[in-house]
Amino acid sequence: MPLVTTTEMFKKAYEGGYAIGAFNVNNMEIVQGITEACREEKSPVILQVSKGARAYANHTYLVKLVEAAVAECPEIPIALHLDHGPDFETCKSCIDGGFTSVMIDASSMSFEDNIAVTKKVVEYAHDHGVVVEAELGTLAGIEDDVKVEAHAASYTRPEEVEEFVTKTGCDSLAIAIGTSHGAYKFTAAQCTRNEQGILVPPPLRFDVLEEVSKRLPGFPIVLHGSSSVPQNYVKMINENGGKMPDAVGIPEEELRHAAQLSVCKINIDSDLRLAMTGTIRAFFNEHPDKFDPREYLKPARANIKELVRHKLVNVLGCAGKA
Ligand code: G3H
Ligand code: 13P
Ligand code: ZN
Repeated sequence: MPLVTTTEMFKKAYEGGYAIGAFNVNNMEIVQGITEACREEKSPVILQVSKGARAYANHTYLVKLVEAAVAECPEIPIALHLDHGPDFETCKSCIDGGFTSVMIDASSMSFEDNIAVTKKVVEYAHDHGVVVEAELGTLAGIEDDVKVEAHAASYTRPEEVEEFVTKTGCDSLAIAIGTSHGAYKFTAAQCTRNEQGILVPPPLRFDVLEEVSKRLPGFPIVLHGSSSVPQNYVKMINENGGKMPDAVGIPEEELRHAAQLSVCKINIDSDLRLAMTGTIRAFFNEHPDKFDPREYLKPARANIKELVRHKLVNVLGCAGKA
């Protein structure tokens, strides 16, 4: 099937109590690792491209890589989504350039300005058969070139969501309930430590999610910053010359719970980066004489595939839903 929008995916996910994985893609091996897992697990998927990914790999290369995945996996629905579109022009460029979904992230603007720019993107997108994700509330962490300190993050205010969705006409809404971008989601001061000395993050604000869902029945909610920062890969990185102390993510049980509620899209990027980097670091430590990129990218791609499979089956619940 051709690239699809997220409309049908989200409807089924909402009704079925699961979420679609939205994985960031930056190169061929990442696209292949994700889509091979989705194909084998018969899972719908969202491949998403950030402003940074477009700057790194070039819009056309990324679209063509995703089109190649669509041709290789004709039996699963795949959506191509712009992650954190910073302005109308970037969204327009992706809508004109083959994406089926865009995010306009005006969450750092005032409520009124967020509505105005989101509405403008929605009008253009809907005229072209493309759907729009918007955001209310501010996550902590790093996204593209913006770093939001933990103290500057703010939870979504449930009392604003109906007005926002009605006035903008957006198709899904990203909310802030305590997730955070990157591999260092929480400071040590925000966490407790378990017996193994691993940081345990503060729980997500499910009360905010439930209040939002009550006000927007049937409406798809999105969680960003939802990597779990697998400790086996953090360890692999640290044991092979890396230095990532206190990297900590969102517990997978919390994401599973969110997926059973109104959360229909869960964004995962950092976990893929950790799997790729850990695998390549370990490879070079074991084989200091090797220099063929295919030799170290092959196990990295395989580990991305297994990580994605784990997310589809055990976290998102979308395996078998294609
Ligand atoms: O939320 C941001 C995503 O992880 C994309 O990251 O801007 O480094 O491509 P990036
Ligand atoms: P992570 O950094 O937790 O993977 O979040 C990715 C994300 O939200 C992309 O928009
Ligand atoms: Zn994000």
